[in-house]
Amino acid sequence: MKVGIIGATGYTGLELLRLLAQHPVRPEVSVITSRQEEGRALTSVFPSLAGLANYDRLHYEAPAETELAGRADFFFLAAPHGAAMALAPPLLSAGARLIDLSADFRLREAEVFQEWYQPHTAPHLLAQAVYGLPELYAPQISQARLVANPGCYPTSIVLALAPLLQKGLTAPDRPIIADAASGVTGAGRGASLGNSFCEVQDSFKAYKVVGHRHTPEIEQELSRLAGRSLTVAFTPHLAPLNRGILATSYVAPAVKIDPEELRSLYLDFYRPSPFVRVRPLGFEPQTSEVRGTNFCDLSLFYDHRSGLVKIISTIDNLCRGASGQAVANFNLMLGRPETEGLGQGPLRP
Ligand SMILES: NC(=O)c1ccc[n+]([C@@H]2O[C@H](COP(=O)([O-])OP(=O)(O)OC[C@H]3O[C@@H](n4cnc5c(N)ncnc54)[C@H](OP(=O)(O)O)[C@@H]3O)[C@@H](O)[C@H]2O)c1
Repeated sequence: MKVGIIGATGYTGLELLRLLAQHPVRPEVSVITSRQEEGRALTSVFPSLAGLANYDRLHYEAPAETELAGRADFFFLAAPHGAAMALAPPLLSAGARLIDLSADFRLREAEVFQEWYQPHTAPHLLAQAVYGLPELYAPQISQARLVANPGCYPTSIVLALAPLLQKGLTAPDRPIIADAASGVTGAGRGASLGNSFCEVQDSFKAYKVVGHRHTPEIEQELSRLAGRSLTVAFTPHLAPLNRGILATSYVAPAVKIDPEELRSLYLDFYRPSPFVRVRPLGFEPQTSEVRGTNFCDLSLFYDHRSGLVKIISTIDNLCRGASGQAVANFNLMLGRPETEGLGQGPLRP
C-alpha cells in the first residue's frame, strides 16, 4: 500500500507522518512533497521522525501535478485550499484514492465555495466527494474515491449538535450559537506575525468574529441533519495552546429536556462511534484530555435558567480535526476498522 503526502512539511502533514508510522497495515510512504524543502531529507527537516518506518530514506519532492500519477495508491492532500482542486483530476484519473484535508471539496455547491473561498476549477468532482465525518458518513466513505476531510471547527461543532438536530429536538425559531477556541497550530506552520510567540502567549482573542470560512461548512452539515436550512452564529477564538479546540454550542430545545434523557440520547446516537466519548453529567472538559488522540469528548449541560442546552466539545485540531480523522477515513476506505493506528491515549500532562 503506497501512500503519498502532499504538503508534508505542514503541521497536518507532520501529524500524518506520526500516525502512519505506527499504522498496522504498514503503509509505505512513497512520496512526500514540499516546494520549499525540495531535495532535503525528511529527517533533516524533522529529526523527530528519525528511525520511524522508512522515513530515514525519504526526500522531499516538488513534482508537477501530472508527475504524481502512479506514485501512490492513496494520497493525503495536506496543502492549503486551491491545491487539491488542481491535483484531484489527474490523480483520480490515474486510479488513486484521495483524502483532501483542505476545504476544496467540503462544500457541496461550487457557488458557495466561490463565495467563501475562490472560483472552483474542478466543480464536476464535488458531487462524488464524500464529507469525511465517519460518525455520519461511514458507509459512503468506505466506497469513496475522494474524501473531503472536515474542517477542525466543523468537526467539533457538528459532532456536538448532531443528535439533537437529527432527532428534531431544537426549537426552529431560535438561533444556534457556537463559540470555539483553537490552538495556534490551527493556522498552519507558515510564519506570520499574528502567530508569533509574543503575540499569542498569555493572551486570548476572538478573530473573524463574523464570516469565518468554516461557517458555511458548519451550516451545510447542521442543515442536512435538521432537514431544513439553518444558520449558526459562530465565533472563533485563538487560545495560547499548541493543539486543541474547545467549542461551546448553545441551542434552545423544542421542549424542556431532562439532562439524563439528553445524555441517553447522545449515548445511543454515538454508541457505534469509537471516537466520541459522551462524558458523565457535570464533567468539565479540557483539551488536555484529548491531546494527540482522535477522540471528541462531549459534555452536556442543561442551563435551566436560560432554558438552553450547552454542549462542550473538545478535540485535538491536528489529530481529530485533521490527520487522525484522515487516517480514520483511510481505514474505512480500505474496509478496515476505523480505529486502526489510532489507539494511542492522550499525552498528558
Ligand atoms: N492546522 C490545522 O489544525 C488544520 C485542521 C484541519 C484542516 N486543515 C487544513 O489542512 C491543510 C494543511 O494545513 P496545515 O496546517 O498543515 O498547513 P501548513 O502547516 O501551512 O502546511 C501547508 C503545506 O502545504 C504545502 N503547500 C503550500 N502551498 C501548496 C501548493 N500550492 N501546492 C502544494 N503544496 C503546497 C506546504 O509546503 P510548501 O509550501 O513547501 O510546498 C506545506 O507542506 C489546509 O488546507 C488546512 O486548512 C488544517
